Amino acid sequence: MSNESKKITVVGLGYVGLTTALCFASRGFNVVGVDIDANKIDAINNKRLPIHEPGLDRILTESLGKGFTPTSEIPHSDIYFITVGTPSKKDGSVDLQYIEKASEDIGSAIEAGGADTHPLMIVKSTVPPGTTRNVVKARVERKSGKNVGVDIDLCSNPEFLREGSAVEDTLNPDRIIIGEYDKRSGDTLENLYQGFYGTDKSPPLIRTSVENAELTKYANNAFLAMKVSFINEIAHMCEIIPGADVNVVAKGIGLDKRIGERFLNAGLGWGGSCFPKDVKALIAHSKSLGYRPLIASSTLEVNDQQPHRAIDIAKSALGKLRHRRIALLGLAFKPDTDDIREAVSLKIISKLLEEGANVTAYDPAAIPNVQKVLGEKISYSASALECIKDADCCIIVTEWNEFKELTPDDFLRSMKNPVVVDGRRIFRPSDFANKGVAFRAIGLGKEPDETSH
Ligand code: UDX
Repeated sequence: MSNESKKITVVGLGYVGLTTALCFASRGFNVVGVDIDANKIDAINNKRLPIHEPGLDRILTESLGKGFTPTSEIPHSDIYFITVGTPSKKDGSVDLQYIEKASEDIGSAIEAGGADTHPLMIVKSTVPPGTTRNVVKARVERKSGKNVGVDIDLCSNPEFLREGSAVEDTLNPDRIIIGEYDKRSGDTLENLYQGFYGTDKSPPLIRTSVENAELTKYANNAFLAMKVSFINEIAHMCEIIPGADVNVVAKGIGLDKRIGERFLNAGLGWGGSCFPKDVKALIAHSKSLGYRPLIASSTLEVNDQQPHRAIDIAKSALGKLRHRRIALLGLAFKPDTDDIREAVSLKIISKLLEEGANVTAYDPAAIPNVQKVLGEKISYSASALECIKDADCCIIVTEWNEFKELTPDDFLRSMKNPVVVDGRRIFRPSDFANKGVAFRAIGLGKEPDETSH
């Protein structure tokens, strides 16, 4: 059977599932997208995407009803991708209930397909090492009455796409990791990807054990999070070393090819749906095996403190924050998304409210999501300029491009008290020199004072 004539079912239509399903459909595959949330399926059937992701709406419009069918029931298929969520429990360990349910439902669909099929199941969700072999395999076998390794192929195939560039990352990944239960399973998945990318354009591909593949995903995210926490720690040092600037230090170390320039942007910390959850899960999983991972734990600890740097810097300029009007520019956990999961903005807002400040915020995309959580506890502005009007301090929380257009003069004219805390290093400090604005930034030391020696 050719790859394109195989039926692919993607179970779980979050970021990973929707992007995977639509990218396969865009390349001529026959794809069914399944989600238990009937409202979500309705919306997708009406060409409304539940997420804000560049390029995805165009693919949806082109492939709906042609290669892509959204539904609530898992049909019998040749290939099943599991892309359901794996949220954190209170102790940081992973809640596997959606993985368990998806495995069972796929087992039932395989059973309904009858004897003469040999489907492939692929776990794309981020799961602790051992989950594919122990949790998924047992459930699918029990429900289907068939055996993995005999009648069913099984692989772990972690996903590394970033929000905001999910389509681009899916079409041009740095590598593909295939964790195979057995050789036949790996061959089938490699063959599927060769059909998707073309044999001569296939990205580098690693075939390994399911456990290595599962762990690679956690190690990857924990390493990137560590890189950011590391530069944020250096940023803290820069703030107390006159003459230091973390951006220059980051550039200097980033040009060392062994280190690399990416993920060395100091800021107010990392958030989003993956880094916090995955670093916590790695720690919890390792602890459950008897080892407390030191670097992953410090990575998290540095990140928990980082949003408070913005408040400390604001206080050093303003004194008490009580009854002060603080303008926050940016609410999304990063630019070009409306996602506020684990967003630094929420931590800063909660601390500012605790200190008695009046908070006004603006974000080009995320205000509706923040309103759902915080309601009228803060006020919202329709533009960056409206947000900074009459403010005592402005904190740059997310590095949206439109904020980079603001000039020292805008702050000087609009604010009651022109104090700017650049939490994402979007401005050049020299542009603010002698402009009448008190400019502070993450990772920026004071001017060196030679007279004190
Ligand atoms: C991440 C991983 O990059 C991706 O491979 C994985 O599949 C899911 O998690 P994402 O959460 O979309 O993707 O965001 P990413 O662009 O990686 O940024 C994560 C966080 O780190 C953001 O809060 C961002 O602001 C922060 N960050 C990133 C920094 O503070 N500095 C940097 O230099 C880079």
